[in-house]
Amino acid sequence: MKITNVEFVISAVRPDQYPVDALPEFALAGRSNVGKSSLINKMINRKGLARTSAQPGKTQQLNYYRVNERVYLVDFPGYGYAKVSKVQRQQFGTMIETFLNDREPLRMVLLIIDIRHEPSKDDILMYDWLKHYEIPVCIVTTKADKIPKSKWDKHVKMIKTSLSFHPADRHVLFSSETGLGRDELWALINETIAE
Ligand code: GTP
Ligand code: MG
Repeated sequence: MKITNVEFVISAVRPDQYPVDALPEFALAGRSNVGKSSLINKMINRKGLARTSAQPGKTQQLNYYRVNERVYLVDFPGYGYAKVSKVQRQQFGTMIETFLNDREPLRMVLLIIDIRHEPSKDDILMYDWLKHYEIPVCIVTTKADKIPKSKWDKHVKMIKTSLSFHPADRHVLFSSETGLGRDELWALINETIAE
């Protein structure tokens, strides 16, 4: 998709800070350091707009990016990072749960998973939780550039099995390094908005 306009709108921690223009929202969930913020930068063609880091725990709020004045990508703090204090982890959890429970413009959660590794307990919990609440979800296996192409299929199968992936759900193979999957993910977002 041609990106004509991107705006970082707000770092929100409470519902009264969420945008009120009712544009459709796509939220990115996943473990700390899995590459959520990098994926946003790749989607919007901006290297450093979403802050990324080799250290986990970089994103600490719900960061709203408005793209082409049509859609929001919402970057979440990652889960499962032990060095973030227990209290802070609980706050992240509550913040994300509050958002997911009751966010009318939310159209889909992009659940970001590192293609190299078996999904964590938290990944499985998140997927089950989204299914339970009937929130549309797309599994995005990222960092595809980190393993040889010949292993992609095997890893994707392993991840789907371990999540008990629902065949009706979507899956996109991604790399923020090479741009693999970018067009496919934009196509999915555009399709979902048009529904
Ligand atoms: P938190 O904000 O801590 O939850 O992390 P995050 O999920 O936003 O991860 P972030 O985008 O900050 O990326 C973490 C690290 O992984 C950075 O060093 C990125 O450069 C690297 N990274 C992210 N995506 C990719 C990818 O597709 N390929 C490769 N090779 N590296 C990646
Ligand atoms: Mg981040």
